[in-house]
Amino acid sequence: MIYCPRLITDPKEINAVYEFLKSQDLDYPQYDEWCRKAKREMELGYKKIIAIYSKDKSGNSFVIGELVFQQHKTDSSMIELKNLRVDRQYRNKKICTALLADVETYAREQGYKKIICDASSNSEDIVAVMTKRSYRIEAKESLYTAKRIDVILAKDLTEKQSIISATMSDLEKLIAKMKLLIVSLYRRYVLQLSRHSHSRNQFCR
Ligand SMILES: CC(C)(COP(=O)(O)OP(=O)(O)OC[C@H]1O[C@@H](n2cnc3c(N)ncnc32)[C@H](O)[C@@H]1OP(=O)(O)O)[C@@H](O)C(=O)NCCC(=O)NCCS
Repeated sequence: MIYCPRLITDPKEINAVYEFLKSQDLDYPQYDEWCRKAKREMELGYKKIIAIYSKDKSGNSFVIGELVFQQHKTDSSMIELKNLRVDRQYRNKKICTALLADVETYAREQGYKKIICDASSNSEDIVAVMTKRSYRIEAKESLYTAKRIDVILAKDLTEKQSIISATMSDLEKLIAKMKLLIVSLYRRYVLQLSRHSHSRNQFCR
């Protein structure tokens, strides 16, 4: 079972995300050091995390995807995505899509105007997923080491198209909820009808 993404603040859950981050094979320079620093910043609330969980057979939940982000260091109108990762076993199930939709909703609600992130130009998966969600490539630079080119991606939340797609996604969620409600009301109605006819049959006998 997979749960909805949510913003986490509980120290135990932060620790679970930290363990998840450490378990991922990333070829970023000083990745372990970055994870330790990120954990401290998550505990302080400077870095924020949206995580998605699943449960094992014994009912223990575990992280299957996360998105770490923070307010941009120099531009307070922007959010910067720092890490986006979905466990290999759970890829292609729209988990990343759900994480990105969640951070975009959070950013809009908090009044941010733009979301940016950088990824190694070798991370074709990240670049492909982000461009599908209307992130545009703003620049290509070597941010960490001279050997590697990084792609800077950004989404303008004030653009008409971006607002329309956010409204559409809210509408889709609402329609899905309405469908569930109609199905459950219909089931209840059918159940009551069958109980009613059963008791009438008994009465007639
Ligand atoms: C990139 C990643 C986050 C995608 O997660 P995911 O949950 O599998 O993605 P989704 O299922 O939400 O897919 C979203 C869309 O992107 C596409 N997509 C997913 N993986 C893709 C890939 N490797 N290449 C191209 N497109 C891809 C999907 O087909 C889907 O398209 P659709 O909406 O048209 O159907 C995941 O593969 C991952 O964690 N990769 C490692 C990333 C990494 O190195 N992170 C650390 C640096 S920040």
